[in-house]
Amino acid sequence: MTVSACAKVNLTLEVYGIRPDGYHELRSVVQPVSLADEIMIESAVSGSIMSDAGYGDADLIVKAARCLDSAFPSREARGAHFRVMKKIPVGGGLGGGSADAAAVLRALNVFWDLGASPEALAGIGERVGSDVPALVLAQHYRQPVLMEGRGERVRLLSREEWPYPSGTWFVLMNPGVHSSTAEVYRHCRARMVSATEAVNDLEPFAVAIHPEIGEALALLREIGAGNVMMSGSGATVFGCAPDEPSAGQMAEELRKRGFFSRSVRTL
Ligand code: C5P
Repeated sequence: MTVSACAKVNLTLEVYGIRPDGYHELRSVVQPVSLADEIMIESAVSGSIMSDAGYGDADLIVKAARCLDSAFPSREARGAHFRVMKKIPVGGGLGGGSADAAAVLRALNVFWDLGASPEALAGIGERVGSDVPALVLAQHYRQPVLMEGRGERVRLLSREEWPYPSGTWFVLMNPGVHSSTAEVYRHCRARMVSATEAVNDLEPFAVAIHPEIGEALALLREIGAGNVMMSGSGATVFGCAPDEPSAGQMAEELRKRGFFSRSVRTL
């Protein structure tokens, strides 16, 4: 079985303060986009759960599979082996590792015949990572999701609340620096007032750590992208394009300049 694990961009990301557990209280609109990793899943009669990618993102895949297995105890040992074809840049604010974990939860639910609802899978995903519950719902319903708390409170946005219609073209750009989520959150200060426009509260702190992110935001604006902002804790930045050809041209222009860039569609 091969499954597709789509990435997300955060269309808003508001930080309201630190919680007693050390995580930040957030409110964010999570938008699934057409950029996706491909994950091949094979059953393993041995009961072993393994991924070919070693460490990094692969850990979240294995963690997701183990969490799901322990949430549905069975007398038979369940196993699965995973092979990942990465398309989503790692550590880029596009939720790559969480997207893989979410896709694995959804796929194993079918593969192991567990019958869990997407909402129950989102609840299990909470133990895997903060972005996983939102990505389970966003991938399943192919719609934007509002996430709150640490990321554990998630709900689909009603169509009237969608910031962009489905099929809107974005251009993504990664300036080639690795932005550490934990480091950006450590530097970030909670917002004082509730802003109404689309904004990512982590952006100024990530830009202060990696000036390349600020340069990437400026470059995207310069080549004509609209509503330019950073996704998650960076380093990927994105903006909208009027249509598919212009998104493609902008991405091509950025790749010529040596950056990772893709044109993607909102789901
Ligand atoms: O949950 P996850 O492992 O994806 O989070 C990575 C890091 O991001 C955490 O260790 C924490 O430093 C930071 N974080 C946070 N508040 C959140 C989500 C993540 O401080 N709501």
